[in-house]
Parts: sequence; C-alpha cells; structure tokens
Amino acid sequence: MVGISGASGAVLALEALRMLEEMRIERYVTVTPGAELTIGHELGAAAREEIRSLATRDLAPSDLLAPIASGSFEIDAMIVVPCSMRSLAAIAYGTGEGLLARAADVTLKERRPLVLVTREAPLHEGHLEAMLKVTRMGARVTPPVPPYYAGLEDLDDMNRQIAARALATAGLDSGTHLRRWTGSNVISRR
Ligand SMILES: Cc1cc2nc3c(=O)[nH]c(=O)nc-3n(C[C@H](O)[C@H](O)[C@H](O)COP(=O)(O)O)c2cc1C
Repeated sequence: MVGISGASGAVLALEALRMLEEMRIERYVTVTPGAELTIGHELGAAAREEIRSLATRDLAPSDLLAPIASGSFEIDAMIVVPCSMRSLAAIAYGTGEGLLARAADVTLKERRPLVLVTREAPLHEGHLEAMLKVTRMGARVTPPVPPYYAGLEDLDDMNRQIAARALATAGLDSGTHLRRWTGSNVISRR
C-alpha cells in the first residue's frame, strides 16, 4: 500500500512505485487532495498519469470501502511517501479520517510494517511528539535524508536512493537500486 500525501517530494512516490512495479509487487495507491496539488506543482500532469498507471489500483482518498480500509485484507507493508505533518498527525492520533489515515491505522493495529517518509523542516515539538507516538506504536519514521556517502551522481540518483531505502525499511528489497555500504570506502553498485 502506497499513500501519497501533500508534503514536498512527490518524486519519491513516483520512484518508489517504479521500483515496486519492477519488483512485481502489487501497488494499492491513494493520493490525498494535498498530494494532488504537490504532484501538479512539482511534477506536472504527466507524472500524475504515470502514478495512476503504476498503481495496481488507484483508490480515491475518500474511499473507505476500499479493501485496504479493513484489516482482513492482507498487505505486506504500507509506506506513506512523502508523509506530510498533517498525515503524520492523523496517523499518530488514529483519526481514521480519509483512506490514507485509515489504512495506516489498520496497518498499525494489524502489526504490519508501516513506513513514514516524513518531510518537513524545521520541526516543532508537535511534529516530534507525533513521530515519537507513531514510533512507539510500531511505525518507522524515515525522513528523506540523502546518503551523501553513496557516491550520488545527480538528483535523480539521490531520489532513487532515498526511495530504495524507504522500501528497504519496509522490508522490500529493490535489488540493484539500493546501493549498499560495503564497510570500505568502495560503494557496491550490485
Ligand atoms: C508546494 C507545497 C509543498 C508542501 N510541502 C509540505 C511539506 O514538505 N511538509 C508538510 O508537512 N506539508 C507540506 N505542504 C502542506 C500540505 O500539503 C498540507 O498541510 C496538506 O493539508 C496536507 O494534507 P495531506 O496530508 O492530507 O496531504 C506543502 C504544500 C504545498 C502546496
């Protein structure tokens, strides 16, 4: 399950979806109204279409009848990428308001992997409290931090590395995309 919320960094969702498709993992996607704005602003209409085409199912943010709104529907993991402070708060307090927050709530209650690629800076106490709360409930908070040590070639490469790491945090190995530290100063590009 991929939730796309209205934080900056829509490209990370696109990269993650491309990798998940390559990995032949089913992709239930929901895009919040806030994310419709950021995707349009940061990537444009063609990228929104690509996100739609990469989704096994593109679910309306208000569709609380969607399979993923119920814990009886099994998923491997859920990732919210990028995760806005609004969606983070909704998840932290279990509001279940909208499909993204509901699916995340279900993922937590079923003790399945939930990864939040939270994007905001600087952070105030409320943001940090919400991060602590979701962490204590079992989610993993992984802000989009570039791996500067990984011999990044350009911004596209950086975005792919961040997306691959977020998927790995959810237990999904994107294979060749994830450049791993080998313990020396030589970066493995398997
Ligand atoms: C261009 C743009 C960039 C934004 N970047 C962020 C951001 O990085 N982090 C964040 O928490 N909110 C950001 N916002 C604000 C959210 O989109 C807004 O709070 C929205 O209500 C989030 O709702 P959602 O979580 O349901 O998508 C941004 C908004 C715009 C228009």
